[in-house]
Amino acid sequence: MTHSERLTEYAGYVHEFLDQLLSEKECQGQIINAMRYSALAGGKRLRPALVMEFYRLSGGNPKDALPFAVALEMIHTYSLIHDDLPCMDNDDFRRGKPTNHKVYGEAMAVLAGDALLTEAFALATRPENLEKFTAEQILKATNCLAKNAGVFGMIGGQVMDIESEHKKISYDELVILQKYKTGALIESATLMGCILGGADENKLKAAKEYAYSLGLAFQIQDDILDIEGDAEIFGKPIGSDAKKEKSTFPSQIGLDKCKEKVKELTQNAINAVKNDFEESEFLIWLADKLSVRNN
Ligand code: IPE
Ligand code: IPE
Ligand code: MG
Ligand code: MG
Ligand code: MG
Repeated sequence: MTHSERLTEYAGYVHEFLDQLLSEKECQGQIINAMRYSALAGGKRLRPALVMEFYRLSGGNPKDALPFAVALEMIHTYSLIHDDLPCMDNDDFRRGKPTNHKVYGEAMAVLAGDALLTEAFALATRPENLEKFTAEQILKATNCLAKNAGVFGMIGGQVMDIESEHKKISYDELVILQKYKTGALIESATLMGCILGGADENKLKAAKEYAYSLGLAFQIQDDILDIEGDAEIFGKPIGSDAKKEKSTFPSQIGLDKCKEKVKELTQNAINAVKNDFEESEFLIWLADKLSVRNN
């Protein structure tokens, strides 16, 4: 199987799982439609792919980690729905389609985000997960997810992002902002895969380092594409950051330095995993692929 086929396979598992999960008959029609609209709109499925790959590298069958991989993707999707709201980034285009609130209205978009967040934890803690994992693994993985999504993770980063609009912050502050805003969920992906697979301390450390460098490169590339991307391919509007006077990497160090940073951080990510994981080829390929992505 090629690396590209593996990524497509992981994305397919996530889509199928979400499609089934969000179609339960007893649920309210409109909220399910709003949740499905964003959750099944595509997206690169980077975070769940990382959960499954780190789980595979720790000796597991990737599909078994799906409840946790999908829970993380649900939290990521909720974060995007809320990030696009008029009170946040006020964007009208996401994953190549009108944003959730543009289609379902703000109230339903807030509720769809809340519902994806809540159902994510119901999924991670559903009793049948005990058939594949120990209670301790489930507890640790779920706690890792909660911490990285919360005030000391993604939410904390979103707060810094909003508070840094229309002002100049230092480069170091911007790195910390992104470490929480984008890095935290990516870190939870790599760590959950390791926790569920029973990986040792060395592997956990390597996974964390990979996530840090990959996450930082990922956000810098996102900021670059917000300036020079193609909206059709990117699936999001171009110029959104400038419009909101966001503190971004290009606004700090300029586009050329940003491109150098992406290359350097990608190499750091690769170095972090190439010795501690025997079959790190997919992770290396993925880091390289993301560094030149245009979507
Ligand atoms: C978008 O994340 C938000 C950022 C952290 C930059 P992705 O670029 O992973 O979005 P999807 O899931 O592919 O839509
Ligand atoms: C958002 O960062 C990251 C989260 C939603 C946590 P951005 O605001 O840069 O993401 P996009 O560009 O809207 O996807
Ligand atoms: Mg934002
Ligand atoms: Mg945004
Ligand atoms: Mg962005």
